[in-house]
Amino acid sequence: MAAKAAREIEKLREEIRRHDELYYVNNSPEISDREYDALLERLQKLEQDHPDLITPDSPTQRVGGRPSEGFPKVVHSRQMLSLDNSYNIDELRAFDDRCRRLAEGRPLDYVAELKIDGLSLSLQYADGLLVRGVTRGDGRTGEDVTQNARTIRSVPLRFRREAKVLDTNVEVRGEVFLPREVFEKTNAEREEAGEPRFANPRNAAAGAIRQLDSRLVARRKLDMFVYELFVGGGRKPFATHWQALEWLQAAGFRVNPHRKVCETIDEVIEFANEKEKLRDDLGYEIDGLVVKVNSTALQDEFGATQKAPRWAIAYKYQARQATTKVLDIGVQVGRTGALTPVAHLEPVLLAGTTVARATLHNEDEIKRLDVKIGDWVMLEKGGDVIPKVLSVIASKRTGKEKPFVPPTECPVCGGLISRSEGEVVARCVAADCQAQLIGRLLHFASRRAMAIEGLGESLAQQLVSEQLVKDVGDLYSLTLDQVAGLERMAKKSATNLLDQIEASKNRELTNLIYGLGIRHVGERTAGILAHEAGSLERLAAMSVEELDAIPEIGLTVAESVRDWFDDKGNRALCDRLRAAGIKTEDTRTSSDSLDERFAGKQFVLTGTLGGFTRDEARALIEARGGRVNSSVSKKTDYVVAGEAAGSKLDKAESLGVTVLDEQAFRDMLE
Ligand code: IVH
Repeated sequence: MAAKAAREIEKLREEIRRHDELYYVNNSPEISDREYDALLERLQKLEQDHPDLITPDSPTQRVGGRPSEGFPKVVHSRQMLSLDNSYNIDELRAFDDRCRRLAEGRPLDYVAELKIDGLSLSLQYADGLLVRGVTRGDGRTGEDVTQNARTIRSVPLRFRREAKVLDTNVEVRGEVFLPREVFEKTNAEREEAGEPRFANPRNAAAGAIRQLDSRLVARRKLDMFVYELFVGGGRKPFATHWQALEWLQAAGFRVNPHRKVCETIDEVIEFANEKEKLRDDLGYEIDGLVVKVNSTALQDEFGATQKAPRWAIAYKYQARQATTKVLDIGVQVGRTGALTPVAHLEPVLLAGTTVARATLHNEDEIKRLDVKIGDWVMLEKGGDVIPKVLSVIASKRTGKEKPFVPPTECPVCGGLISRSEGEVVARCVAADCQAQLIGRLLHFASRRAMAIEGLGESLAQQLVSEQLVKDVGDLYSLTLDQVAGLERMAKKSATNLLDQIEASKNRELTNLIYGLGIRHVGERTAGILAHEAGSLERLAAMSVEELDAIPEIGLTVAESVRDWFDDKGNRALCDRLRAAGIKTEDTRTSSDSLDERFAGKQFVLTGTLGGFTRDEARALIEARGGRVNSSVSKKTDYVVAGEAAGSKLDKAESLGVTVLDEQAFRDMLE
């Protein structure tokens, strides 16, 4: 019995580790979050029943752990240095000159990497197992945050033993950061919960890693790129830094892919310029490059000053900050009625674009910043398109600044404003608010909803102010004369618009549900609802209990959907949409007879397919209503086997599961 459990535990751990790596290191998950959670839960259950089998490298040991009493201090075996900065090309060239002088004519090349804006962390492995995670602290002494480091999914709890490994006791250093998307989500959640927003991802990450309760850390979803490797005695085991990075990657660590060996400083500069363009598209914040001498022998020879190594330098990108004056603070009304204060600014150049407005999020944020009309402020462009106000420059105050007075009624329609307890957002609750209607129209017309391309902001405004449109349903009764009669509207564009409105009638149910703008129903949730309900009528009739019972739909969404359909006006709108000829059935799976072969069927993909990536194959299956799982079982309907298929194929054959080769799979798709 125990032996059987031990075997299953080991298998589960291996599988979970593989999925961790696929997800966190390679960014190419093979199973859904739900399937992953099921594996983890199964493992937790087994370990609970057999506590003697719990090992520190088990994936279950990442989360959990009770709050500890502060963090013990740890002295670093080798000081964690900082870096000298350079801010322009001349300073970078001066660094190159210094290095070449120190190298006394010996050949010299560099590795250029991104400088990740996070906080450094040291990871210690004994016998291949993660035994300790320590913050940088003051460089000599840091804090033992091992439990928290374990929650970082891209940190292997046990590194892969490579043939070339020189030692199984190693120290790996790198940068912990919060992905931009997680940062934004965290802030949105904090805002909903009435808590203050984090100023930037680094603060949020720093707060998280020093959080005492590691369960809370786990929720913060930190990530880590590593860039240094030491073995016993603080020695660097490879001849070059590049080799160390390659080893780290092979051992299962996450190493940033944007890196390059550069023979000359000109190559470094070219790399820097090339990567700066990527800055807004990376999923994380960077603040420049780090340039390092590649040879570790030369690194050791060059040594370090008190603070920083002589063999490396940071090349900082221009700060994406600027100062300007707040001319006014206005209030915008969104489609849900949410009131957002917006600073109107004296236009200023920031990261290549002229900025004249910045969001102030909500009244609490205005209080926190203590920003007034007439203030000089520091702006920052983070990952968002809209820049934000970082702080007020108090020294520039004249005393003539005027405080922002929050509106007592909706600035657009004069309707009532409500701010529920615990919410930071104030909302206009008027049903007929024009600003909300414009917001709803734009959302309904957006690309992921009904895709009515010609319907932009100014047109939406005109349609509403001319009272041609009172809700999204009215779009479908617009006539050519009405549209062509609007200001700045040529006949041709009017015809185009009507054509697009006509074409939108055939959008999928999922797009329609998303377009209705039901609170808490995003694109993905809309897809699930469309699939489960099958039609708008059925969805409108579902009870909270029925909705809540749908996998991945929680009570908040269930109640929000029910509330929306309980509204008489909304129900009438649905009737009119249907009468206008809009598709309200989910046709993604049911009507297409070929899809019968996919709907509800369980697929497993294995090996390499010539014509598709795994993600593509998965999308094709899921679009037809099938499901893709990671492991083969009796319940599997089809195994799609590409080149070099391994154990999954053997298992399929032993269980008698139908195996499709690539051609058979293509035939089935067609
Ligand atoms: S190497 C002795 N490489 O920047 C050299 N540091 O401003 C140690 N950082 O303390 C650092 N990305 O926390 C290195 N690719 C990278 C980095 C990086 C970010 C951080 C690190 C360091 C700080 C210095």
